[in-house]
Amino acid sequence: MDLQLEGKTALVTGGSEGIGKAIAFGLAREGVDVAICGRRVDVLEATAKEIADATGRKVVAIPADLTKDEDAKAFVTKGHEALGRVDIMVNNAGSAPGGVIETLTEEQWAQALQLKFMGYVRCLRYALPIMVKQGGGRVVNLIGNDGVKPSYWEIAPGAANAAGQNLTKSLAGQYGKYGISLAAVNPGPVRTERWAGLVKAMSRDMNISLEDADKLAPSSIPLGRIAETEEVADLVVMLASPRAFFANGTMIEVDGGQDKALMDRSRDR
Ligand SMILES: NC(=O)c1ccc[n+]([C@@H]2O[C@H](COP(=O)([O-])OP(=O)(O)OC[C@H]3O[C@@H](n4cnc5c(N)ncnc54)[C@H](OP(=O)(O)O)[C@@H]3O)[C@@H](O)[C@H]2O)c1
Repeated sequence: MDLQLEGKTALVTGGSEGIGKAIAFGLAREGVDVAICGRRVDVLEATAKEIADATGRKVVAIPADLTKDEDAKAFVTKGHEALGRVDIMVNNAGSAPGGVIETLTEEQWAQALQLKFMGYVRCLRYALPIMVKQGGGRVVNLIGNDGVKPSYWEIAPGAANAAGQNLTKSLAGQYGKYGISLAAVNPGPVRTERWAGLVKAMSRDMNISLEDADKLAPSSIPLGRIAETEEVADLVVMLASPRAFFANGTMIEVDGGQDKALMDRSRDR
């Protein structure tokens, strides 16, 4: 299927590593010029060069910390200037601390919403007016299955995810009349640079060994393994394309059919 992405432009937040990098790569392979952001300039620039060399597309590296409104504004504005249009906005950079209510601090709750939710709000606040002015656009928000499959050890990511899912559906209702549609993708566990850290947190919060914590996610997924970044990215690229434009206000889980209840170790105690 021709995804009709050739010649389009996209902003991808957190495009220097993990799922975001796979998305930027996937879009560039389909002929999309891309702007990516992240905080670490060396990693960001190396990724931009790697993708540009491999695909021959324009890949612009714009350092930004999306917990800061001025950085979000600069990323969207500079990305727009460099690419000429913003056909696609992929909000991806975001993480929220795992942990249980007994240990999560005020700061961690604030931090959970600061990047994973407000980072998306900020980028959309600046990208949507550009899309309205140019006569349309497509937004794909990388969120997470914690928002629809709650678990007590991931309540902060769950809350941030649920907020992002609500935001996606709300804006889909508001911006359709401008030719802008929005969709969300909800991954389950994905093998990224920070996966090892998440396993460590599970081991701590569930009071189990690292080895047992590492087996928990695969054993909760009927397919018996966690996802690779490309498996999430391929879905995002498809959803970002004009072929999926009518899937507005839609969310898709890409979690291998994970049953979170199977990870609930409190039932064993
Ligand atoms: N991995 C999973 O298992 C999983 C599961 C469900 C949902 N998700 C969601 O999928 C998305 C991608 O996750 P991921 O695991 O690939 O890793 P991630 O840690 O969310 O993102 C890594 C990328 O984001 C950038 N980044 C981190 N903090 C940033 C900030 N404050 N401002 C700008 N950029 C920032 C990183 O670069 P710098 O560090 O240099 O800033 C890097 O490029 C996230 O929204 C995550 O919540 C992931």
